Amino acid sequence: MRKKVTVVGAGNVGANCALRIADKELADVVLVDIAEGIPQGKGLDILQSGPVQGYDVSITGSNDYEATAGSDIVVITAGFPRKPGMTRDELLMANYEIVKSAAENAVKYSPNAIFILVTNPLDVMCWAAWKVSGLPKNRVIGMAGVLDTARFKTFLGQALQVSVENISALVLGGHGDTMVPITRLTNVSGIPLSELLDAETINAIVTRTQNGGAEIVEHLKTGSAYYAPSAATVEMVESILKDKKKVLPCAALLEGEYGLNGIFFGVPVKLGAGGIEKIYEVQLTDEEKAAMAKSAASVQEMVDVLKQKAQ
Ligand code: LAC
Repeated sequence: MRKKVTVVGAGNVGANCALRIADKELADVVLVDIAEGIPQGKGLDILQSGPVQGYDVSITGSNDYEATAGSDIVVITAGFPRKPGMTRDELLMANYEIVKSAAENAVKYSPNAIFILVTNPLDVMCWAAWKVSGLPKNRVIGMAGVLDTARFKTFLGQALQVSVENISALVLGGHGDTMVPITRLTNVSGIPLSELLDAETINAIVTRTQNGGAEIVEHLKTGSAYYAPSAATVEMVESILKDKKKVLPCAALLEGEYGLNGIFFGVPVKLGAGGIEKIYEVQLTDEEKAAMAKSAASVQEMVDVLKQKAQ
């Protein structure tokens, strides 16, 4: 039987997720959005690429959740994007209401689905979706680390003039300016980064990675990135639907791992048919641990705001 993926939010990220899922023929897609006509129109447009691109999946658009029933995966992209000068955290309250309603509605029709969150502030939105949906923790996953790692690899590939495919990198922590690229564990076909670039160049690339989302917002002015975010999301969708068991950095609910409890945070996980099948706890240096703690504090602060609001 064909797989089914619901994408909530038919904006740039959502529509590109639908397009990439169709292009890879991974599943039928239902695009959902509150804006009348937008998911229907974009869904039909993507469907009509099928005869040219050579895919046979069904793409439909809807303003309600009935059409989403029985989805294997629900991707939540709905929410406001950043404007220049804004941090992801400033979106907290507005996007909380949107994600809450999306998760509540989607879980009603697809109680067995795996939820992938994309809306910012990412780590906190994962927590909100997990809380309101009542889903087990292995079935709520945040997309951030794959994107942040992709940006890190892109900049490293440019600096080294090597294929990005040969770069193995790890970015941990929250999806904010305090994210933690682990340069010590980054290598090019096994060659440690420290043997290829000087510390100053590495530090500049780390900083550019941490501000990677903001750099694009500054260019676009009216919204945030969507090509790389949708590519990252669909890598996760594919690993789950095909049970590939890729090891990818994703936001996962931590219950003691890395000394953290009760927050979603970017860590390496194994993604398969069961969602998050394993969380890997990597040995970190004191300096890396301090950077993780700083990043975790900023996520915890926002979760505390939501907890107060929910009382
Ligand atoms: C970014 C937004 C999507 O990092 O969080 O581009």
